[in-house]
Amino acid sequence: MEKIRVLFNEKELSKREDELAKELYKVYGDEPVIFVITLKGATLFACDLMKKYPGDARLEFIRVSSYSGDSSTGIVNLKLPLNEDRIKGQNVVIIEDIVDTGNTLKYLREYVNSLGAKSVRECTLLDKKARRTVEIEPTYSGFVIDDLFVIGYGLDYDEKYRNLPYIGVVEKD
Ligand code: IMP
Repeated sequence: MEKIRVLFNEKELSKREDELAKELYKVYGDEPVIFVITLKGATLFACDLMKKYPGDARLEFIRVSSYSGDSSTGIVNLKLPLNEDRIKGQNVVIIEDIVDTGNTLKYLREYVNSLGAKSVRECTLLDKKARRTVEIEPTYSGFVIDDLFVIGYGLDYDEKYRNLPYIGVVEKD
């Protein structure tokens, strides 16, 4: 039987999201901002963050994939593109679940820029800084974590565990 060790519980996630929402609002104030949510991993984080954001936030979805099981292939595939008309001239915040090698974030930043966004920032819940192979830093990150494979709160291992309300690590015995 696998055991799950909790890394961040619901209270800790919620507290950090309050802070991130405030930081973002300080940047945009009453200007509209498009939250581009990366499916599927960032959905739970993005929902909770958006509910805490007091400004004019709009919503678009994108889906890319680079992971197979618990390892990154390094090649980013665009599975669900954005609608250019919704991005052109807009302030965009890309909402990510986790930054690992940085390949996905780099791809997303370049892609959103190529659609003519007015500004692009990124907000990731988790950042595995030590694993970076590409030179890129998200504008905002919830927590920097060690090189661990984490699950829960949107993050999966082969589609499992996304519905856990906390971030955890699977401990195999
Ligand atoms: P990167 O392109 O290597 O930075 O990988 C980013 C993507 O890999 C994330 O958006 C996740 O979908 C996935 N990923 C990276 N690390 C983990 C993890 O620890 N658990 C679950 N998914 C992960």
